[in-house]
Amino acid sequence: MTQRHLLFVANWKMYITYEQSLTFALTHKHDLCALAENEYTHIIVCPSFPALSPIINIFHDTPIAVGAQNCSSFSHGAYTGEVSAEMLTAVGCRYCIIGHGERRTLFKETAQEVAQKVIRALEHDLHPILCIGETRDEYEKGHTTKALATQLAPVIDEINKSSLAHKPLCIAYEPYWAIGAGSIPTISYIQDISSWIIEYCKKTLPTTPISLLYGGSVDENSASQLLPITTLDGLLIGRASTDLEKFKNIVSLHYR
Ligand code: PGA
Repeated sequence: MTQRHLLFVANWKMYITYEQSLTFALTHKHDLCALAENEYTHIIVCPSFPALSPIINIFHDTPIAVGAQNCSSFSHGAYTGEVSAEMLTAVGCRYCIIGHGERRTLFKETAQEVAQKVIRALEHDLHPILCIGETRDEYEKGHTTKALATQLAPVIDEINKSSLAHKPLCIAYEPYWAIGAGSIPTISYIQDISSWIIEYCKKTLPTTPISLLYGGSVDENSASQLLPITTLDGLLIGRASTDLEKFKNIVSLHYR
């Protein structure tokens, strides 16, 4: 067995209902815990907001951590419909996906808002999973690293201005055009981009422990090609994470 620590983040998005989320967690608790009992395998389940609290209770005292899919860029106040990082930590949430490609493209979240969300999460000991990625157009024009740098810059600035630079930051590289598309970029491309991200963060955030995930159409086939990439610390899995057999097969690749 390899000694690499790997993180497997299940992003359930808005795919499954409240009841289906609870049924999934209750039915598969034993299997999920068995996968994560190895100290090198870390599983984080990210359900919808309403399902967070009951799922945190289901996985209480197990190695499975629970994360949210978003948080507010504001601390507190008159922000109808928002959920603060502090509220998430208070219910026992440990992680938060921030700046997902769907939020940036469909909900027009700006890089500045995303940076504020990362700071709010760090302030409240919520581990941010910061998503970055390029559009198909940027990819085809060879502008990927430029696009990633534009998304990373405000986050890096805010972290460097704060007293939070020592806190770990998890980055998920998810090319927008690969999310839900059924295909991934070439492995050498992912290797190059992930090395670039690591180097960029080492230079600009020298005291921040960085871990890097890949996401976008991860399934059993692509995971077997992705996991040997040594610059990656894990995978962010959308659609395939709502099917326990698929998710188990992906995580089990870590043991082979
Ligand atoms: P996907 O989603 O695995 O369904 O492509 C990944 C993500 O958007 O986080």
